[in-house]
Amino acid sequence: MKILLAPMDGLTDSYARDILTSIGGFDLCVTEFLRVTDTLFPQRVFYRRCPELNPEEPQAISHTPSGIPVFLQLLGSDPQAMAENAAKAASLGSQGIDLNFGCPAKTVNRREGGASLLKYPERIYQLVQSVRQAVPEQIPVSAKMRLGYDDPSLAMENALAIANGGANWITIHARTKLDGYRPPAYWETLAPVREALAIPVIANGEIWSVEDYLLCRERSQCEDVMLGRGAMVTPDLALQIKYQTGQLSHEHYKPLNWADMVKHLEQLYLLMSANTALKERYIAPRLKLWVKWLMPTYTQAEELFIELKKIRDARDAIKLIQESSRSC
Ligand SMILES: Cc1cc2nc3c(=O)[nH]c(=O)nc-3n(C[C@H](O)[C@H](O)[C@H](O)COP(=O)(O)O)c2cc1C
Repeated sequence: MKILLAPMDGLTDSYARDILTSIGGFDLCVTEFLRVTDTLFPQRVFYRRCPELNPEEPQAISHTPSGIPVFLQLLGSDPQAMAENAAKAASLGSQGIDLNFGCPAKTVNRREGGASLLKYPERIYQLVQSVRQAVPEQIPVSAKMRLGYDDPSLAMENALAIANGGANWITIHARTKLDGYRPPAYWETLAPVREALAIPVIANGEIWSVEDYLLCRERSQCEDVMLGRGAMVTPDLALQIKYQTGQLSHEHYKPLNWADMVKHLEQLYLLMSANTALKERYIAPRLKLWVKWLMPTYTQAEELFIELKKIRDARDAIKLIQESSRSC
């Protein structure tokens, strides 16, 4: 079984990827999307989106510091520009390229990128094929799609287009663009797609707990999953799933308590503070954002957030976070 960490613009950046993969359970990360129009980006743009590609960073290229591979995600509708940028990412050492056919954002869809392409399976096929041909064979190309734009009627056709275009696997967020992020996720719609495709299908959407994982696996017939918001809320969810399904032994699993999580938030603070290019004023909001996501799992986060939201200074924010673990 494989568990992937979902790309989430503004949430799963390199800091979150570092922390979540250090907690464990994840086999692969995908970066937030890099939007390709008609130009070949310079190297610095790739490094900004995927700092793990930068050889000046201490970890192995295109891996998190815990050694988990990171794929760069591209979003766009021009096959040539997508192919050129994919080839460049591969030449910089990207462990793989993921293509986004699921983003619901208006700005992206107006320019025919993301989920809007799901109306045109032929264009999806061309995009996957041109990227596949531009990237060395040993570098995987994957794609992430939703069930459809307004409705799921083209789900199978789009999935087949991705597979026939040469993708190594496909992740399906089991909702249409119209569904947005409203529950439920229609996991059962993935089963016939998995049956029809020769490549692995990775299920995504609404997995918040081990119980959700088990139900998703039963309904979708997919063993592999991608976790998004559930990983922000319960950072050891991937570990819990692997432990409860017998993939991890007792010695390798210890529940993540609040004091442990505070250590990871300290790490987030240190990583952000060490980055001289990052403006100080971004640090406190970022800490607050994650504490807010943690509220459903940790009562301490709920109490902490009431005080934390009044604070602007990053040092005061981290002090308050540290105090919350001492009082528990
Ligand atoms: C804030 C946010 C940003 C996202 N950004 C991306 C993105 O850059 N690329 C992408 O393919 N999906 C993106 N997604 C979709 C997620 O990868 C995932 O498919 C979706 O959240 C459903 O999974 P979940 O229910 O486990 O969160 C984003 C989702 C959220 C909530």
